[in-house]
Amino acid sequence: MRVLVTGAAGFIGAKVAAELLGGGHQVVAIDNFDTTYPAEIKRERAERLGSIGGFHLLTGDIRDERTVRSGFDPAPDVVVHLAAQGGLRKSMDEPATFISSNISGFGNVIKATVDAGVGSLVYASSGAVYGGTPDLPFRESDAAAFPLSLYGATKRCDELLAFTYAHAARLRCTGLRFSTVYGTDGRPDMAMYTFARLISQGQPIRVHGHGNMVRDFLWGDDAAHAVVLAALDQSDFTTTRAARGPREEVSSAPWRVLNVATGRQVPLMEMVRLVEAAVGREAELERVDALAAEVRENRMDVSALGDTLGFVPSVQVEEGVPQAVSWYLDYLARSGT
Ligand SMILES: NC(=O)c1ccc[n+]([C@@H]2O[C@H](COP(=O)([O-])OP(=O)(O)OC[C@H]3O[C@@H](n4cnc5c(N)ncnc54)[C@H](O)[C@@H]3O)[C@@H](O)[C@H]2O)c1
Repeated sequence: MRVLVTGAAGFIGAKVAAELLGGGHQVVAIDNFDTTYPAEIKRERAERLGSIGGFHLLTGDIRDERTVRSGFDPAPDVVVHLAAQGGLRKSMDEPATFISSNISGFGNVIKATVDAGVGSLVYASSGAVYGGTPDLPFRESDAAAFPLSLYGATKRCDELLAFTYAHAARLRCTGLRFSTVYGTDGRPDMAMYTFARLISQGQPIRVHGHGNMVRDFLWGDDAAHAVVLAALDQSDFTTTRAARGPREEVSSAPWRVLNVATGRQVPLMEMVRLVEAAVGREAELERVDALAAEVRENRMDVSALGDTLGFVPSVQVEEGVPQAVSWYLDYLARSGT
């Protein structure tokens, strides 16, 4: 298969591209190498992918329609859309950047997908869409109408745009609602890595929610595997039922969302203990309030993922955190940071 992967130089995208290339598929990548975290990391990922064969990189921005359309010449068999701006707090501070990349960019990708006659789009949503949803665990059948961050709102918006095209153009749309993804070759802007750096430097770390938060930590390779399974899945499906809808006559639109998580809740302080152990030093804690954009708990029901793709992520933090921290400390040493 020929797969267009946006954000392929990113943390999850590079793992998706590597798994696809390993399976003998061709990957056309679009990425703008933005500097949310050092672009050098992204260039190294793209270089590694380029050495595998079957990988073609287009450097450009999904906000630019022409760039997006260049990825469809010739048309891929499926589109995997992962390019986006991430970060809860940042999204509240820089709404225009998030709205343009995550919503307008998504609009460019989905319209080009339809125009090229491609039948299937798999895209990254986020557990952040659930925000203030009252009942735990969060389920795909929830309305997800209460995002607490602008980031979550942009991802929910993408899901709604996807429904419109699933209905109008019969485009098969699968939105993957990832929990908190971490791993080797990761994103240094995420808390786990910041903790590792500060602890190793003997500096205090700020634990949000006074350390009383719980998270579902999803191993990066597991997240990528779910994306690949969804991209290769050719089964028929109809609209995920949510909030008493949709109406019967539009419910055959091929639109689904899936929680991608482990289903296990890990207290934030347990993650901190694992980082301390991996660094080999105790953390000095500064307990602070949670951000308004943060949920205390992001427990997600993963039964639909297992039923639909036959896969439930299994790598646990005890195994994953030491590897992620070790990768990051090596990276810091290598880059002289
Ligand atoms: N990592 C997580 O915990 C997590 C959780 C939920 C959802 N997600 C979603 O998964 C997807 C991948 O996330 P990631 O963790 O790999 O992040 P990442 O930042 O490592 O990857 C995103 C990639 O997209 C590229 N990009 C950003 N804006 C672009 C634009 N306008 N044009 C072209 N390229 C652009 C970036 O350069 C980057 O390489 C994103 O959509 C993200 O919102 C991630």
